[in-house]
Amino acid sequence: MGRTEKKLLGKNADVIIEILKKAYCDEMHIFHYFWYVSINMEGIGLVTYATALKTQATGELMHAELLSNRISELGGRAPSDPAEWPKYSTIGELDPAKHLTLRAALERATQFEGKAVENYNSLAKKALELGDFVTYNLATTILADEVKDEQHTEDILKSLEVK
Ligand SMILES: [Fe+2]
Ligand SMILES: [Fe+2]
Repeated sequence: MGRTEKKLLGKNADVIIEILKKAYCDEMHIFHYFWYVSINMEGIGLVTYATALKTQATGELMHAELLSNRISELGGRAPSDPAEWPKYSTIGELDPAKHLTLRAALERATQFEGKAVENYNSLAKKALELGDFVTYNLATTILADEVKDEQHTEDILKSLEVK
C-alpha cells in the first residue's frame, strides 16, 4: 500500500480487504460456473446460448482481477487456494454440474447475480463510510455490471418458451 493511502486508511484497510476477499472468491466461483456450464450444457442451450455464457464467464473473471488488484494495493493477497474459496464465499454451494440445462443454469444464476448486487451495494456503502474512495469506485463499477447481469438473466429466463 502506498504510504499516503496507508496513513489515510489505517486499520480500515484490513476491514476492506476481508470484504474484497469474499467478493474475489464469489467471482471465481461464478466464473467457473458459467465456464463449465458453457462447455457442458445439455439440450438446446448448447447451440443457442453457450457462447453468451462463455462471455459472461470472462466478465466475471475480469471482476476477480480488478478485486485481486485492489487487494494487493491494500497490502493483502487474494485467496490463492481454490479449496479456501468456499470458506469465503457468500453464495453457497455452487456445483455447475447440477445446473446444466439452460433454464436450470439461469435460475441458479439469478440467485447469485442478485446476491452479487447486494454484496457490491453494501461494499460501496462500507467503503464510503470508511473513506476508501478507490474501493468505493471499484464497487460501484462492478455493481453496475452485476445489475445488468441480473436483469439480463431475468429477461432470458422470461423469454424461454419451454417451461
Ligand atoms: Fe461479477
Ligand atoms: Fe455477474
